[in-house]
Amino acid sequence: MTGIVMDGKRVAGDIKQHVQAAVQSLQGQGIRPCLATLLVGDNPASATYVKNKHTACSHVGIDTQDHKLGKDTTQDELNGLIASLNDDPGVHGILVQLPLPAHLEQFATISNILPPKDVDGLTPHNAGLLAAAKAPLVPCTPAGIVEMLDHYNVEIAGRNAVIINRSRLVGIPLYHLLLQKDATVTTCHSKTADLQKICLDADIVVTAVGDRTKFVLEKDMIKPGATVIDVSIMRQDGRLVGDADYENVLQKASHITPVPGGVGPMTVAMLLKNTVTAASMAAAMAAKIGK
Ligand code: GUN
Repeated sequence: MTGIVMDGKRVAGDIKQHVQAAVQSLQGQGIRPCLATLLVGDNPASATYVKNKHTACSHVGIDTQDHKLGKDTTQDELNGLIASLNDDPGVHGILVQLPLPAHLEQFATISNILPPKDVDGLTPHNAGLLAAAKAPLVPCTPAGIVEMLDHYNVEIAGRNAVIINRSRLVGIPLYHLLLQKDATVTTCHSKTADLQKICLDADIVVTAVGDRTKFVLEKDMIKPGATVIDVSIMRQDGRLVGDADYENVLQKASHITPVPGGVGPMTVAMLLKNTVTAASMAAAMAAKIGK
C-alpha cells in the first residue's frame, strides 16, 4: 500500500483564489486589507518565513507593512510599535513572528495585540474563544491542518487523533479543533510514556517535534492506513525533511503530508484568510458605529 500524498501547495492555491476574490470585493468597498509583520532579530529561518508571508500577500492583493527590528529591541519599544499598529485603522492584521529573542516575553508581547487584529489567533482572548469553539481567528497551522484533512475527506469524527506537540502555536489549538470535530484526541510531549503504543492506536498522527536527533516518526509507530500530518521542517544532509521517515511511512499510511509542500503552504494560506477575515470584521464594525 502506498499512501496518498496530501498536496498542500495545491490546496493552499485553491484557498488563495478564494482569498483573492474576497480581497477584490473588499477593495471594491474601499477597504485595502493590510497585514503588518514584526520580526525581531536575525533568525534566518524566521526571516524566510516572514518573506514568504509577504510574497503570498502580494499575490492575492493584501497590502503589507514589514517591521524589522534589531535583536536588541527592548520590550517597551516592541510594545510601543504594537500599540501604534493597534491604533492604525489601515492595519487589519498584526503578526509577531515567533520565536522572539530570549530577552523578550513572548506571551506578554502577543497579549498586547488587539484581538480583532490577532491574525495568528494567539492572544489570550482568541485562545479562550477557540476553547469555546467561537474563535473568528484561529491559529494558522492548526487551521490549515484541519482544512487539509477536510479537503482529502479524512474522517475525523470518532477517530483517534494523536498530536505530538503541546505548543500554543500548534498542539493546543489543534487539540481544540479536532475535539470540536468529535475526534478522541491525545496530546503527547517529551514526557509522554510509551509514545509508540499511543501512536499505534491512532487513526490520525500529527507530529511537530522538529528535532530528528530526538525523534523520528518511524513506520513501526503507525498503524496501517493511518493519516500522518508532518508539521516540522528542517534541513538534514542538504535537504528539507520533517519528523517522519517519509519514504517508509508513506508505504503504510493512507495519507501523508510531504515536507516541503504539505503543512507549510497551508499555514500561509490560512494567514491570508485570517487577514481578510480581520479586515472584514473591521469594516463591519466601522459600518456599525458609522465611521
Ligand atoms: N513561528 C513559526 N510558526 C509561526 C506562526 O504560525 N506564527 C508566528 N507568529 N510565528 C511563527
